[in-house]
Amino acid sequence: MKRLDGKTALITGAARGIGRAFAEAYVKEGARVAIADLNIARARETAAEVGDAATAVEMDVTRQDSIDAAVAETVERLGRIDILINNAALFSAAPIVEIERADYDTLFSVNVAGTLFTMQAVARHMIARGGGGKIINMASQAGRRGEPLVAVYCATKAAVISLTQSAGLNLIGHGINVNAIAPGVVDGEHWDGVDAFFAKYENKAPGQKKKEVGEAVPYGRMGTADDLTGMAIFLATHEADYIVSQCFNVDGGQWMS
Ligand SMILES: NC(=O)c1ccc[n+]([C@@H]2O[C@H](COP(=O)([O-])OP(=O)(O)OC[C@H]3O[C@@H](n4cnc5c(N)ncnc54)[C@H](O)[C@@H]3O)[C@@H](O)[C@H]2O)c1
Repeated sequence: MKRLDGKTALITGAARGIGRAFAEAYVKEGARVAIADLNIARARETAAEVGDAATAVEMDVTRQDSIDAAVAETVERLGRIDILINNAALFSAAPIVEIERADYDTLFSVNVAGTLFTMQAVARHMIARGGGGKIINMASQAGRRGEPLVAVYCATKAAVISLTQSAGLNLIGHGINVNAIAPGVVDGEHWDGVDAFFAKYENKAPGQKKKEVGEAVPYGRMGTADDLTGMAIFLATHEADYIVSQCFNVDGGQWMS
């Protein structure tokens, strides 16, 4: 008996990185998964690699019509949605005096409004079909405290933690558990982009920031997407039924709260 046998999941931003690792891990545990992403070509490639239990769904979490269509398409193909992982997000960095309003709007639109309105659309489906569900929001250690060059991204992830708390309280009456995962520094294409920001603003050689942050992790290295899958599986099982509105640090010992 696998831990997610018979379950279905919608995972946003799952064409690559952490979302992809979640999709692979969920399928290994017996779930069928919708790999939802703005980058539909990459989502299709990923779904083909993950296997028959995965299907690619085009989704832009900044657009309500796209959220509604992706949720409807997932329900049509998988029959229902038992688990939602709000994983899609963008990163940016700049000193306070250089932050641009357009960048602020984009990050809040993807990371915060995207999380809220995807959660809302899926919660409506879960409430209508009954039987509860699991919603997991991807926060970050960046949401636990500020960083001098990362004000906007940090603020979006603090907002994700706050939304998780409120939504968890509001939805548990329907048997829907809303919780969050706060990773630390996770190696992958996302961090290649982060490294480039720091190379620019801290005058570092490419790859230097990555090396430094990895060495600073108490565990002794950067995380991998696979380091996060255990928590994502656990939070989607009945073992997590009594866990409400929490945000779990999975970060090699970076943050304690
Ligand atoms: N990698 C890290 O170090 C790290 C650390 C803490 C938290 N996180 C969080 O974990 C999650 C996954 O991170 P990752 O490293 O895999 O990121 P990533 O950049 O590799 O993947 C993000 C995915 O989201 C998709 N996406 C972007 N905008 C979208 C939109 N509008 N609609 C739908 N999809 C969209 C992208 O196409 C991409 O496939 C994010 O929420 C991120 O903030 C990552």
